Amino acid sequence: MDLSLTKVFVTRQLLPPYLKILREVCIPEIWSENNPPPRKILLEKVKDKDGLLCLLTEKIDEELMNKGKDLVVISTMSVGFEHIDLKAATDRGIYVCNTPGVLTEAVADYTLALLLATARRMTEADSFIREKKWTMPWSPTMLLGSSVYGKTLGLIGLGRIGKAVAKRVGGFNMNVIYYDIYRQSPDVENELNVKYCEFDEVLKESDFISIHVPSIKETYHMIGERELNLMKPSSIFINTARGVIVDEQALSKALKEKKIQSAGIDVWETEPTNLNNPLFKLENTVLTPHIASATIDSRTMMAELSAKNLVAVLKGKMPISLVNKDVLKVRSLSEVKRI
Ligand code: GLV
Repeated sequence: MDLSLTKVFVTRQLLPPYLKILREVCIPEIWSENNPPPRKILLEKVKDKDGLLCLLTEKIDEELMNKGKDLVVISTMSVGFEHIDLKAATDRGIYVCNTPGVLTEAVADYTLALLLATARRMTEADSFIREKKWTMPWSPTMLLGSSVYGKTLGLIGLGRIGKAVAKRVGGFNMNVIYYDIYRQSPDVENELNVKYCEFDEVLKESDFISIHVPSIKETYHMIGERELNLMKPSSIFINTARGVIVDEQALSKALKEKKIQSAGIDVWETEPTNLNNPLFKLENTVLTPHIASATIDSRTMMAELSAKNLVAVLKGKMPISLVNKDVLKVRSLSEVKRI
């Protein structure tokens, strides 16, 4: 097999084992800088490519697909695919794949880490020591936080990650309520020990609210001023899903005015976020730079899965996780086979 015949562009260096998978079918061209390829370069790079392995930092739109006339597969190393114009891809017979499943546990772990850190003010406590403010002996009132054990957790979204969070909090004896456009069967609800409630009821009743819905048109600013006003003043808000689901200005205002107690935020309306973001000024926040899936295991599995998906399509085989299933009707797997 002549490996130079199949052309693939990878938009960043990933964790190693994925390369072995790609090298089965091609000699990939890899963008080796830490920052994403500038748009102009990306548009150039896709011109002669059969496959593109990208991240959520690249905008994969019609303009790009028009340049990449030979593209048969776009494989993103992310579970989210809001950066890809699915309709444009399907219309052109381009297979779009993502990496669900392999980051579920890492994101669920991180959600709990953020929830606990926010409830117990861990980052404030860390800064307190480093800034040499710990000058008095043990105190009954220093850095008081909120209990987690036995409290009510409201999950907005009960997909893979929401369910993995629900499974973890049994040990904290939490009462879990959820809202989702899809209600789970009574069997699943019993097994997870969760109760379905209307959206507003989840907001009103929960001590902790955690977001686990995808970024789609319908979830844009799903949490805004109205929703924040419904939450308890003692509530703690956690977002490890996508920044655009929450109106950041409204969240900052609610935190400042103590309409809610605190927030743990890993995802932002724009990333990297503006350095003047009002959330930076608030002590009642724990802020991190979109790292919920950032474990060596998880990122290795994500890289491997995105490479496997890409290689499968190039071989004319069904990829493990195809997003736009309708594409099968537009261009069959035997038609996209490149090797
Ligand atoms: C990360 O946020 C992902 O979508 O994989």
